[in-house]
Amino acid sequence: MDLSRYARLNAFPRPTPLEEMPRLRAAIGCRPRLFVKRDDTTIVGLGGNKTRKLDFVMAEALAQGADVAVTTAGVQSNHCRQTLAFARRCGMECHLVLTGDEPAERQGNVLIFTILGAKMHFIGEERDPDAYMAELAAQLRQQGRRPAVIPIGASTPLGALGYVESVLEVAEQAGAAGVAFGHAFLPSGSAGTQAGAEVGARAAYPNMRIHGVSVSRDASGQQAKVAELTNETFAFLGLDMAVTPADIIVHDEYYGGRYGVPTPAGIAAIKLLGRTEGLITDPVYTGKALSGMIDLLKKGRLDDAEAVLFFHTGGFPAVFAQADQFQRE
Ligand SMILES: Cc1ncc(COP(=O)(O)O)c(C=O)c1O
Repeated sequence: MDLSRYARLNAFPRPTPLEEMPRLRAAIGCRPRLFVKRDDTTIVGLGGNKTRKLDFVMAEALAQGADVAVTTAGVQSNHCRQTLAFARRCGMECHLVLTGDEPAERQGNVLIFTILGAKMHFIGEERDPDAYMAELAAQLRQQGRRPAVIPIGASTPLGALGYVESVLEVAEQAGAAGVAFGHAFLPSGSAGTQAGAEVGARAAYPNMRIHGVSVSRDASGQQAKVAELTNETFAFLGLDMAVTPADIIVHDEYYGGRYGVPTPAGIAAIKLLGRTEGLITDPVYTGKALSGMIDLLKKGRLDDAEAVLFFHTGGFPAVFAQADQFQRE
């Protein structure tokens, strides 16, 4: 599949590395070989999955003449950090509509928002962020500005191309390394990452089943969300393919029932990966996804595969905002 017809900023080095995790495998004692796709190394704004999406989405915003970016997410949002960094590289201001209260201390991603000079709007948990963004964009237009309103997670069909591409890279890297992936794990929230990966895998690497570990929603809600964006992305690419929610694998037993709240298994997974492979994951997304993958490996549920892949989607600044989780052994 050729994505070269879509404008992009080329703001990070590709392909990101594919690395084996033999020490994690030994610690778990599982049969399949384990690998990690290092999408935490995408550089812009400390890297992560959103960089892949924003490489396309911000190129479009620039082409449309935007001079200010507006986006939304939770207070400790990686998406907001990466959007802000892209905006600054593009010479734009950036408004962040943050769905929570202003924290007493600026830490983690909020600290980076401050350093990069974001205009922060803490709107609490009750107000509708999309309505707030629409109002803010209207005000900016009245002032003669040209705002680009970027939806949460940059989870649009254009943004999902970032994860189509990540899977295309994996297909090539796996071929070169002589390894065959049967399963791949990633955190699933606003759904663009999983939807892009579903499209990439179904079009170019059908033997690799994508497992989304939900971070905020029950499985049926997340399956529907992912399927919808997967189908929109197929259509956007002109591919005559489709999925139903039942085709989408989502695990909802690893996020602890509430977005952003750490789980003991997630914290244990973060420490295990750090102490075996020297990689840093986070309590909100990657640690939870990893805890799901480890649980299923331990139960032997992934033993039909020669190798299993973990997409490291970034997010490490959150450990500084949740430092209390790591004060004891
Ligand atoms: C580190 C990290 N991983 C995964 C995700 C989930 O990606 P998506 O929102 O595309 O489902 C996010 C979303 O913010 C994230 O910050």
